[in-house]
Amino acid sequence: MTMSDLPSHDRYLRALRCEPADTTPVWVMRQAGRYLPEYRATRERAGSFMGLAQNPEYACEVTLQPLQRFELDAAILFSDILTIPDAMGLGLSFAAGEGPQFARPVRHASDVARLAVPDMDGELRYVMDALRLIRRELDGRVPLIGFSGSPWTLACYMVEGRGSKDFATLKTMCWSQPKLAHQLLDTLARAVASYLIAQAAAGAQALMIFDTWGGLLGPAPFREFSLRYMTQIVARLQADPASRELPVTLFSKGATAHLAALADSGCAGLGVDWTIDLADARAAVNGRVALQGNLDPAILRATPEVIRREVRAVMDSYGNHPGHVFNLGHGITPDIDPEHVKVLVDEVHAYGRQLREQ
Ligand code: CP3
Repeated sequence: MTMSDLPSHDRYLRALRCEPADTTPVWVMRQAGRYLPEYRATRERAGSFMGLAQNPEYACEVTLQPLQRFELDAAILFSDILTIPDAMGLGLSFAAGEGPQFARPVRHASDVARLAVPDMDGELRYVMDALRLIRRELDGRVPLIGFSGSPWTLACYMVEGRGSKDFATLKTMCWSQPKLAHQLLDTLARAVASYLIAQAAAGAQALMIFDTWGGLLGPAPFREFSLRYMTQIVARLQADPASRELPVTLFSKGATAHLAALADSGCAGLGVDWTIDLADARAAVNGRVALQGNLDPAILRATPEVIRREVRAVMDSYGNHPGHVFNLGHGITPDIDPEHVKVLVDEVHAYGRQLREQ
């Protein structure tokens, strides 16, 4: 088979295995989201964000919306990382314009002791039903990504009870009650591993762990409170027949200093934010894992010419090597013109072909 015969639906999985493909695969974090008018319309019908996420038909509909507009190389389950704490009984709500909130945050030893791994066929069944439906509707067009938050990032929200700049409440717990923090993180690591194994069994073809707040930690605490638990999860996924074959991508935002340590976790790929050139990120991991990233999402506010130029700069930095999954360095924001996303996706594919001919 020559390279041009490779089916496009394979690009994303090939890149994660560091195998050559006809061009660079691309998907966009938060690709199903508020920048799309059709997403806002479905959300309106669903009544709320959780109403949307917990209804498999709605979740399937919005998962597929960006694929109808753009030639994306992967679909990502429409859901949220906070489904696990919600299923643990913390009472999740999204107040308009305020982000997530928990009615019952985790503060005391008794709160941590009460937490149990949720039933994947019970409280979280809606996630698995959505995955089964999306796989059926995708019909092999592109692979489907399942995901979870990392234990550290979930704990940030669970202990704080809401979003925060520094998640000082959990950080205080780490230094004043380290045993309690570890007990919480250990429960979460078991929950996340079961959740991702169940997602694999329900049809996810690749898995991603969002460690959005890993970058709040210095090197030693990062290894102790964040990386250690993600490494445990990767090992559990590799030991289970349902998830063994699935590539796992870890994304610790703001953690470019820890890329080499992250590459030792056993993951297939690492998400990279825009604060490092991909050439340097690739050198840091010694080409051992695939890299996903890393255009600054703010560049999508610029003109199409600037977007194309910056897309090429990211791709030039990675160079003509296998193992690059193009993405933003963090989620797309609601203010972006969908036409600019089309410019990005089409430029990645066109320039990826050009790079391979050099
Ligand atoms: O990427 C995708 O398209 C899949 C869907 C997805 C959502 N959230 C949908 C969502 C994914 C992968 C997430 C992950 C997530 N959720 C993370 C990790 C990635 C990251 O962005 O750092 C985090 C930290 C959360 C927690 C969360 N959920 C926050 C802080 C918020 C509110 C902030 C905001 O952007 O409004 C959410 C809500 C949320 N999750 C929305 C979407 C599309 C917006 C809610 C709405 O429609 O009103």
